[in-house]
Amino acid sequence: MNPVELIQKKRDGGELSRDELSFMVLSYTRQSIPDYQMSAFLMACTIRGMTDGEMHDLTDVMLRSGSIIDLSDIPGVKVDKHSTGGVGDKLSILIAPIVASYGIPVPMISGRGLGHTGGTLDKLETIPGFRTDLNVREYADVVRRVGAVLIGQTNDIAPADKRMYALRDVTGTVECIPLIASSIMSKKLAAGIDALVLDVKVGNGALMQDLERATALATALVSIGKQAGKRTLAYITDMNQPIGASVGNWVEIRECVDCLRGERGPLVEDLLELTHLFAGTMIWLGGKAGSVDEGIEMSRASIGSGQAFAKFEEIVAAQGGNPHALLSDTIYPPPLHIVNVQSLQKGFIRSINAREIGLVSVQLGAGRMSLDDTIDPASGIVMHAKVGTSVNIGDTLARVYSNEEQGARPSVERVRRAFVIGPDRPEPIDLVKRIID
Ligand code: URA
Repeated sequence: MNPVELIQKKRDGGELSRDELSFMVLSYTRQSIPDYQMSAFLMACTIRGMTDGEMHDLTDVMLRSGSIIDLSDIPGVKVDKHSTGGVGDKLSILIAPIVASYGIPVPMISGRGLGHTGGTLDKLETIPGFRTDLNVREYADVVRRVGAVLIGQTNDIAPADKRMYALRDVTGTVECIPLIASSIMSKKLAAGIDALVLDVKVGNGALMQDLERATALATALVSIGKQAGKRTLAYITDMNQPIGASVGNWVEIRECVDCLRGERGPLVEDLLELTHLFAGTMIWLGGKAGSVDEGIEMSRASIGSGQAFAKFEEIVAAQGGNPHALLSDTIYPPPLHIVNVQSLQKGFIRSINAREIGLVSVQLGAGRMSLDDTIDPASGIVMHAKVGTSVNIGDTLARVYSNEEQGARPSVERVRRAFVIGPDRPEPIDLVKRIID
C-alpha cells in the first residue's frame, strides 16, 4: 500500500478498510512511515471525521500493536475507571483502595499531567519510593497480592497510541473524538480488564467544553468497550471548578489521605460524592453489590471502617512507597512561599475557572511546560472557597504554594481573577450531567 494514496483517500472523505488503517498505524509504529505523513493522515481524520467502523478498527489495530495483558488467572471481575482529565481530579487514588477493599481487582493504567490537567502518576510519585513503572509481571503480581495497582502506560501497552498521541499533541489533532476514543480505549483494553467506568468531564477545565461533544465522546467510548465485550458505562461529570480543595501533587495526596481517613468538610463534598458514585458503580460491576446505590453505601462504609485507608497503605507499600510518609508533614521542606489570595469583594462565589487554576498550578511547577520539565512536588493551590461559598472582603479564597525564585505574587492575581463573585447565591452544581450506558 502507498501511504500517500491512503492520506488522499481520507482527505477526500473516503472510508478506510481495516487493512488500510492497520498498514498506516503499524508502519508508523515501526517507523517506516515518517512523522510528516502520519501528521497529514491524522489531520485528514480530524477534518473529515471517522466512521464508527473506522474507529472500532483503529482501536483494535492500536490495541494489538502491543501486548494484551492477561489477568484471567486472577479471580473476580477486574474493574477499572478512566477519567478524560480534570483539575484537582484525584478520584482514582481514592477509588482504587475503596473498591479493592471489597476484594474486587482494580488494575489501573493511569496518565501523567497533560496541558492544564493533573496526572495521577505525577501525584503518586510524590510519595517517597512509589514506583509507577512496574513491568507487566510486577503489575499482575500486585493486583493478585493486594487487589489494586496504579501504573503508567508501558512500552508494551498500545505502543502505536504512544507514538500517535505524542504526534497529535504537537500537530493540533488531539480534539478529534474518534481519535481520542480509540486512544483511550486501546490502552484500557490492553490492561486486562473485564469492566470499565468512564468519567467524561465537561466544562471549562475539561478536554470537552460542551455537553454535546462530551456526550459524543462518552458514546464512542462506551460503544468501543461494549464491542470488545467489556461492561462499560460512562458518567459525564462537571468540570467547572477544581474537584475537592487542592490542586497540585503532594497537596492532592494529602487530601486523599484525609478523605480516606474519614475527614471531610464542605470543600471536599464534590470529591467525595464523585468518589462514592464511581466506587459504588465499580463495586456493583464487580458483582459485590446488588445496585449502584448499595455500592455507594459500601464505598462510604469502607472509609468509615478504616479499610480503605489500610488498603491504600498496602498499595503504596506494594509499589515501593513508604506508607509512613502519608501522614508526615515534613517529608518535603515547606514551600518557599505560601501566599493567601484574598477576596476584594463581598458576595457568593459564582464560578471558578478550573482551566485557569490548572494553568497557574502548572506554572507554579506542579505540571510540565515541556516534556523534560520535572515536577515540583510541593507546589500547587489549595482552595479555601468553592462555588456557593459566601465571602467577605479580605477572606481567603485560596493559598498558593510556590518554590519559584520570584515568589508566588505573579500567580496571585491570576488565581484571584479565576473566582467570579456576585451578589446572589448560585444554583447548586449538578455533578453528574448524563449517564451513557
Ligand atoms: N487521553 C488519551 O489517552 N488520549 C487522547 O487522545 C486524549 C486524552
